[in-house]
Formats: sequence, structure tokens, C-alpha cells
Amino acid sequence: MSRSLGRAAAAAVATLLALGVAAPSVSAQEPLRSGHDKPLRDLAARQDLRIGTAVDMEALGSDRAYRSRTAREFNSVTAENVMKWEVVEPERGVHDWAEADELVRFAQRNGQAVRGHTLVWHSQLPAWLTSGVADGSIDAAELRRILRDHVTTQVKHFKGEIYEWDVVNEVFNEDGTLRESIWLQKLGPSYIADAFRWAHAADPKAKLFFNDYNVEGVNAKSTAYYDLAVRLRQQGVPVHGFGIQGHLDIGYGFPQDVQANLERFAALGMRTAFTEVDVRMTLPVDDAKLARQADDYRRLLAACLNVRRCTSFTVWGFTDKYSWVPEWFSGQGAANLLDEEYAAKPAYTAVRHELAAHRR
Ligand code: G3I
Repeated sequence: MSRSLGRAAAAAVATLLALGVAAPSVSAQEPLRSGHDKPLRDLAARQDLRIGTAVDMEALGSDRAYRSRTAREFNSVTAENVMKWEVVEPERGVHDWAEADELVRFAQRNGQAVRGHTLVWHSQLPAWLTSGVADGSIDAAELRRILRDHVTTQVKHFKGEIYEWDVVNEVFNEDGTLRESIWLQKLGPSYIADAFRWAHAADPKAKLFFNDYNVEGVNAKSTAYYDLAVRLRQQGVPVHGFGIQGHLDIGYGFPQDVQANLERFAALGMRTAFTEVDVRMTLPVDDAKLARQADDYRRLLAACLNVRRCTSFTVWGFTDKYSWVPEWFSGQGAANLLDEEYAAKPAYTAVRHELAAHRR
């Protein structure tokens, strides 16, 4: 089911529910509290691990099964989109925190922590910013002021409510060179240290992370983050953690040296986190593909559980009903732990077993 069809179906069910006509599918109400069937969050808590999911706010508001499963299974949530700059400041100086605040309130009602995603990125920027830079009406000095005000305002708005921020997202290329974003082009590399310092000043208790994809193992890109972390921390810049997105594809081999990668950041005294895990496949689904997917989820989680400073494991959505993958990778999908009807896939079972069996 495509994301838009998933949403339409969810909206229809929500209407029927409101009319008292339809009941959510049984699988959404399965008794999760019985013995061996504890939710993931209970198993993760025993391992001193936060297990989280990205949250689609439209689904949260319209799909009762989505809402109840988000609350039951996870002790951490991340806004999939509603804490991004294009959403929180659609017009210059005009802030819209409504959906982000709704997620924070949901998390507080359900005893969940909130990961902040994301302060500085090259994507999903508001049009007033990108067009101002493009037409030259925003020069470098003003851009730095705008960035400072954005980071400070957003982190202060959520002060005390967010335990970790993805301060900068996807700042390196695959070869370890800095990405040519408007930030690098106009401000130079110093924008990274500035963003961390501004975020720390706004909320000294929040832990501040880099975040990127294709950095699960030891490679040129992850090593660029490692080297930058060493340099910035030597300068007293408050860099606390490294976020590893974990968007895998069963068509590629499992990344090499994942645990060694986590361990080298831990040796610096830094946290690590898997922040956006999903494992896509070329459709149609079959048992062999599902088994490979389950093993990839399990191996990433096992690496995290083997390294104490790996403090959270977040999936980028938990049901195939709302995954970002089909819209971005033609012919691929089925990347999440549960299928479109919220039934457990082998990956969900593998994650449960790893959480239950692992000895940290
Ligand atoms: O909100 C608008 C809606 O008003 C409009 O009608 C619709 C028209 O297509 O677009 C909606 O915005 C979409 C937005 O998601 C919210 O649903 C954008 O088109 C769409 O591009 C955007 O995709 C997000 C993507 O980041 C953008 O790069 C995905 O949902 C989100 O899962 C994905 O997440 C990123 C992480 O933030 C960073 N790491 C990679 C990850 C996957 O790309």
C-alpha cells in the first residue's frame, strides 16, 4: 500500500471509528502484556536501552492502531518531519510548533523520551530561506544570524523536553569531504561548531549529536565524523554523540565493522545511537527476503547492545503502512518491523528475541 493510500485508508477507518461503526483490527489490540508477549519497550528497559520510532503525525492523529502501537511498543519517539525547519518556521520569524508540541505531549502522556530531529540540514528548509540565499538577499552575515536564531529558538522552545538533538544532519559526502550545502558554501565549516555551541547554550542538558546515513561501519564517511568529533571536542565544542541512521537494503551486504565503529566513538567518551533504522527490499516480499531483513535488524541491534554507550535504537517507522521507502525507492518497500496490517514480521520477532536474550 502506498503511503498516500495508507493515509486515506487510515482516515476512512478513523471516520468509521468516530461513528462507532468499525473496530480496529484485532492485531492492533492483541494482548501485548501477557508473559512472553511484552512490548519492545519493556524488553529494552531491562537492557537500559531506549527503543524508539519515528512518528508520522498524520497517522498518529487518524489511525487508532498506529497510535496505540506507537504508545505500547516504544519508550522514545522522533518526529519524522514536524520538527524540521520548513515546518517549524514556514515564514521568516513566524513559528508553528503545533504538531511538534503535540508529539511531545503524546510522549509525555505515554512515558516516552523525545529525540529532536533535526536542527541543521540541507533538505526540507523553508522556501523563504532557500530563495533568499539563492537570490542573494540573504548574505553570509545574515545567514549566520538566521541559523543562530533558528537553533537557539528551537532548542529553547523544547528545553527540558528533548534528551538528544540531531544538531547537524548529513554534513559529509560518501568520500568524507564536507557536503556542499548552503551552510558550507556561505559560512564555511565553522557552522558545525557554531550550531553545537548555540544548541548547548539553549539547553545545556540535551545531548548533541551528528547524524548521517551509510555510516554504520568503518568507512571514509564515518571516519570523517570520528576525526571531526576528535577535533571539535579538543576545542571544547559540546559534541556528545554520533547518530547512525541505519537505512539498510538487503540487496547489499551487511555493513562491515559496525561494532568496531560504535566502540571507537565510545572510546572517545561519546554516545552512539541508531536513529532511523529500516531494512528495505525489492518487492515482492518472500520468506528468504524477510529472513535476511530480520537478520540485518538483529545484527544492528546486537552491535548496539554490545556497546554500553550505544544508548538508543530507533526505527524509522514501524509499519509498512506508512513507510517513506516506496515513494523514494521505486519498486522497493516492506522495510519495517510490522506489515501494513500491523502483523509481526520475522524482523519484529528477531528484535524481540535479541532484546529478551541479550546480556549487556
Ligand atoms: O507535508 C507536505 C504535504 O502538505 C504535501 O501535500 C505533500 C505533497 O507531496 O508533501 C508533504 O511533505 C512531504 C513530507 O515528507 C511530509 O510527509 C514531502 O513531500 C516529502 O518529501 C517528505 O519526505 C520525508 C523525507 O525525509 C524528506 O527528505 C520523509 O517523510 C522522511 O521519512 C525522510 O526522513 C529522512 C530524515 O529526516 C533524514 N534521514 C533520511 C530520512 C529518509 O529520507
